[in-house]
Amino acid sequence: MRLDKFIVESGLASRTEITKVAKNGGVTVNGQVVRRASGHIDPTSDKVTYLGKEVIWREFTYVMLNKPDGYVSATDDDKFPTVITLLPDELQRIGLFPCGRLDKNTLGLMILTNNGPLSHKLLAPKNHVSKKYRFTVKFPISEDDVQSLESGVDIGGYVTAPCKVEMIGEKEGYITLTEGKYHQIKLMAEAVHNQITYLERVTFGPIALDEGLGRGEWRYLTEDEQKSLEAHGKIIKDIHA
Ligand code: URA
Repeated sequence: MRLDKFIVESGLASRTEITKVAKNGGVTVNGQVVRRASGHIDPTSDKVTYLGKEVIWREFTYVMLNKPDGYVSATDDDKFPTVITLLPDELQRIGLFPCGRLDKNTLGLMILTNNGPLSHKLLAPKNHVSKKYRFTVKFPISEDDVQSLESGVDIGGYVTAPCKVEMIGEKEGYITLTEGKYHQIKLMAEAVHNQITYLERVTFGPIALDEGLGRGEWRYLTEDEQKSLEAHGKIIKDIHA
């Protein structure tokens, strides 16, 4: 693999910067200064440093973000800031995109990755990956409302699939869906004559929002989280193979 590609994909710098830094002696391979960034290395065995920092190569990058209000879950938008702009420059240039959408005013767990095939599997409607949201509504929710929501409501020509609702107060609770229609939870609340006033995603498949992350903050998925996400994608593949 080309040395400059290896460093670009690790998210440390752009190719142009790397070429310059290498020329000035800022790149080493196995302890030797390498001034030609177009040379080749073995990503599995060579030890590379960039400006004194060891380069950890990732084939794919996975980031957890605690989405704040007012950001759109897209890679670019004409009117509003995107969740990508909450990431540092080096992560903005490695092709990360949000794995699934949240409305502009929905908060919470967002996974960003550049693993297109895995993201595609996790989002395919037929794969029913579960997503749990914490919500607050304007009016109290009755037992009957809970039953209607759980068994399926009409959200404008589409009847929602069975889901789980756990109330923790008369106007707040958790809802777990295995599908993701546009504005689904808001429309479900309207179907029982109510209105969502707060919506936050707290889980996506096997991944839970890290409570230590403030709104707008991000971190890499841990190795265990990454493995469980990748394994989730594989299980889905096996079930539907
Ligand atoms: N349902 C909604 O209505 N909005 C979201 O952002 C996610 C689920």
